[in-house]
Amino acid sequence: MAVLGIDIGGSGIKGNLVDPFSGNLESDRHKIATPQPATPSAVADVVAEMVSHFDYRGPVGCTFPAIVRRGVTLSAANVDESWIGANAEELFEQHSSGNDFTVLNDADAAGIAELEFGAAKGRKGVVIMVTFGTGIGSGLFIDGVLVPNTELGHLELDGHAPVEDWAAAKVKKDEGLTWEEWSERAGAYLRHLDRLFSPDLFVFGGGVSRRWDRIQPGLGVEVETVPAQFENEAGIVGAAMAATRR
Ligand code: BGC
Repeated sequence: MAVLGIDIGGSGIKGNLVDPFSGNLESDRHKIATPQPATPSAVADVVAEMVSHFDYRGPVGCTFPAIVRRGVTLSAANVDESWIGANAEELFEQHSSGNDFTVLNDADAAGIAELEFGAAKGRKGVVIMVTFGTGIGSGLFIDGVLVPNTELGHLELDGHAPVEDWAAAKVKKDEGLTWEEWSERAGAYLRHLDRLFSPDLFVFGGGVSRRWDRIQPGLGVEVETVPAQFENEAGIVGAAMAATRR
């Protein structure tokens, strides 16, 4: 059985069919630009379009870049403010009837995929998935069990609050930082997380993880740190998995 996974981001909404028992992608990825402004109903229309594109009926897993508790989005750091308090699951179900939606935080979804099939497969203890993109997302796992919505990109570090405004991958581009300069910031952030949580493993995710050869030398982190295996597909895979496990 293939399950539809959808990844909602600030610039694009991506979907793919996933085998939730192997993590394999079962079709070609489809991408639709995120509507601007990305209001709940405009995004729900795109989600419905995605479901039609795959001519899909069944459970759908969907990531969202904010706190999501029992289907309700509770923050809006990089998305339209009108999402605060919106019931995303109900809204998506109304816009594409016949499908059950599971909506979860994007970094939590990425971590689910990495722990089951990817870079942290089978790892016990405290594992922290960190995604570096427009913001910084986090997924905290204890013996493989997710503690959802940790939002560790919103911590303060040395006066940088939230720290994602100083160390996200987007900042590298915005400030024209070299890989060395940026990976020093990412490393300082990971060392801060180490002081707080003493994890056994960090999984370093987000599109930039493709450039692990440029990032790793500057990190200076003692804790074992591995690049994500799914790169940008982790959210889609983890969302599809979450949709079959509720
Ligand atoms: C949001 C998180 C999200 C992260 C990565 C942050 O700004 O608050 O919910 O996981 O960006 O998209």
